Amino acid sequence: MGKVTISTLDKKKAAGEKFVCITAYDATFARVISEAGAETILVGDSLGMVLQGHDSTIPVTIEHMGYHTECVSRAAPDSLVMADMPFMTYSTPEQAMENATHLMQAGAQMVKMEGGTWLSDTISMLVERGVPVCAHLGLTPQSVNAFGGFKVQGRTPKEAKSILADAVEIQDAGASLLVLECVPSNLASDISRKLDIPVIGIGAGPGTDAQVLVMHDLLGLSDHTARFVQNFMDGQSTIQGGLKAFVDAVKAGDYPREEHSYT
Ligand code: KIV
Repeated sequence: MGKVTISTLDKKKAAGEKFVCITAYDATFARVISEAGAETILVGDSLGMVLQGHDSTIPVTIEHMGYHTECVSRAAPDSLVMADMPFMTYSTPEQAMENATHLMQAGAQMVKMEGGTWLSDTISMLVERGVPVCAHLGLTPQSVNAFGGFKVQGRTPKEAKSILADAVEIQDAGASLLVLECVPSNLASDISRKLDIPVIGIGAGPGTDAQVLVMHDLLGLSDHTARFVQNFMDGQSTIQGGLKAFVDAVKAGDYPREEHSYT
């Protein structure tokens, strides 16, 4: 595959070629995910739920993220490794710089933060200092308490307008990628068309430039799965086969389908 960089992903968007992101938290899974052909790996703060057994991502700390980012980045030399900035580690630009330094020094090539317009100054400051940023909009899991649960976002015209405005603003601030989680598929398609930067969807329908899933979900290991999750182990006898089936399905445009999408 060769080393994936931001320009690889920009070229894929321009060529209309879908790309893939899968979460990983350790070296072995990072290696097999990279070998399966996923261009990007996310060291997600979902580790708070799938590794640590919490019911949200809120208890995850910068030390946890640094440790898992080190494990992943040692084993995935070709994939672009992004790491989540955990809850309340980027509430001011200065705090974000200090914590992003921790993750970049642990081996991340990009940091991900949940939020829109309010993050603009932080994004600009990090990007100006050499830290690429992925923003995350829609159902931002660190705000689960403010949302009153893990709920689809952007269903009313007012909410949809606000997510679109946030997306434009974070692009203007210098973000390189955007994750859109659990939004209606027509809104996600609209945002993906309007933005120049690649948009990675999760529960956002087939119209985004790329797809991400939490590894445990796509391997059928989670006890509770959302509408947008498909078990890619069906018909496979190895984990490598399941991961490759997800990568191939996204690239061929076979996943996600209507049944995985919100309207
Ligand atoms: O933490 C995570 O795994 C994520 C993905 C669900 C996008 O943010």
